[in-house]
Amino acid sequence: MVQAAGTSSVRGSEFVETDEGIVIFEGSPHKEKVLYGNLLWTGALALSKFFATASAAPRVQGRACLELGAGTGVVGLTLGRLGAAPVFITDNEPELVTLMAKNIEANQLSHCVQTRQLDWADGSTFMQQMPDIVVAADVLYEGDGSIFCHALSQHLREGGEAYVANHHNPKKCQATLGFIRSAISMGLRLERLEDCNGFALGSLQISAAPFGGNFQPLEGSADAICNLVRDAKFHEPDLSPMERHGSKKALDFRILNLLYPGTECRF
Ligand SMILES: C[S@@+](CC[C@H](N)C(=O)[O-])C[C@H]1O[C@@H](n2cnc3c(N)ncnc32)[C@H](O)[C@@H]1O
Repeated sequence: MVQAAGTSSVRGSEFVETDEGIVIFEGSPHKEKVLYGNLLWTGALALSKFFATASAAPRVQGRACLELGAGTGVVGLTLGRLGAAPVFITDNEPELVTLMAKNIEANQLSHCVQTRQLDWADGSTFMQQMPDIVVAADVLYEGDGSIFCHALSQHLREGGEAYVANHHNPKKCQATLGFIRSAISMGLRLERLEDCNGFALGSLQISAAPFGGNFQPLEGSADAICNLVRDAKFHEPDLSPMERHGSKKALDFRILNLLYPGTECRF
């Protein structure tokens, strides 16, 4: 992750600049409350790079996009820079909505990117207009993923697409597997970005390289698909933000790219 983004400072205030040229201010840690979205997570960097470089990425110019659990907002900001409009970057935490507004301003993208407070557990906060593309990064880390899946499906119109990237640890992926079971039960179809040898793509280890690969359907029973996802083959593990921020113990984080459109779900 550190390899994919450089840290700089202006007037004493540190920011990160991604390979795609997006400037991101992270939030300050709290003593009383953990705000994960204050940090830039690996899934967001991978998803941003996917949209900017992958031949399998969809055309985004002029398309309406929604980012769920956006944290710093980097994926939506990258989409805005690539020509998507309008782009809504959303989170349930008011403090992160303020941080995202700061990042919109830092990137001069207010003509196409807007913030919204959107809580997956509260339907009254959901968007009224359906986007063409829904994105989310590193949002599957607690619970069984069903609340997120419900919110996502409520914003997925017929023919719409969702692209989800998440870190992956085969011993700790209940949220991802729960999300997949929910998606299957809602009739969504899943695809995964893979190389020609069946390795799941998304790792930032070879950060300079564009994403290759193609989306392959994940088919079979829910159990079979969950097994495929849990036991996904990756080339290299990635660094987690915890490592970047000096955590004592390195976690076995890896990137797993997921995406799924409308009634034909891509993962
Ligand atoms: C691990 S952070 C990832 C942030 C960002 N997507 C990234 O990858 O850098 C998870 C994000 O999901 C948000 N989140 C968690 N529960 C949520 C909910 N019920 N509704 C909306 N956002 C939520 C958190 O506030 C946080 O910003």
